[in-house]
Amino acid sequence: MFITKKITTFETYTIRQEVLRKGKPIETCYFNGDNDSSTTHFGLFENEKIIGVVSVYKTNSLLFIDEIQFQIRGMAVLENFQNKGYGEQLLKAAEKYCWEEKANLIWFNAREKAVSFYTKSGFKIVGNSFDIPDVGIHFVMYKKN
Ligand SMILES: CC(C)(COP(=O)(O)OP(=O)(O)OC[C@H]1O[C@@H](n2cnc3c(N)ncnc32)[C@H](O)[C@@H]1OP(=O)(O)O)[C@@H](O)C(=O)NCCC(=O)NCCS
Repeated sequence: MFITKKITTFETYTIRQEVLRKGKPIETCYFNGDNDSSTTHFGLFENEKIIGVVSVYKTNSLLFIDEIQFQIRGMAVLENFQNKGYGEQLLKAAEKYCWEEKANLIWFNAREKAVSFYTKSGFKIVGNSFDIPDVGIHFVMYKKN
């Protein structure tokens, strides 16, 4: 039995570190805006154990002209639990929240490896790939309401 619920910034750190910043200091898991009142974090739990996280920030990208934009960051599912539909579940929860908050557009920087995961949920690539040092090749992806 698994559930998705809102969590604190602090609760995101262990999963972010394990999945997104493996072997790197915990400070690399602190993201700008994490503690803003307009930021929301979601966790996916299986029997009280947190297995995945995602965060949503009210941040506009200059690539888009839409008025109300939300950015998704820190999407991560523990390796042993990947490919079981949990990531999709988390993404759906984040998306639902954004549309409820009247977002016109959701965007994020997607790792090259995760692009097809997001494409399956209807997100599209805009522009060319770019490198984020120490993390790798990324694409900007988005969905309009
Ligand atoms: C990317 C990630 C969040 C996906 O979560 P997940 O729980 O493994 O994904 P799901 O099981 O919900 O997958 C949903 C669909 O996307 C597909 N999918 C998942 N990861 C994929 C990938 N890397 N490439 C292609 N398709 C992928 C699944 O096969 C599934 O397709 P289906 O519905 O046709 O069966 C997870 O694998 C992860 O944490 N990866 C490492 C960190 C990372 O890359 N995060 C994203 C940063 S932008």
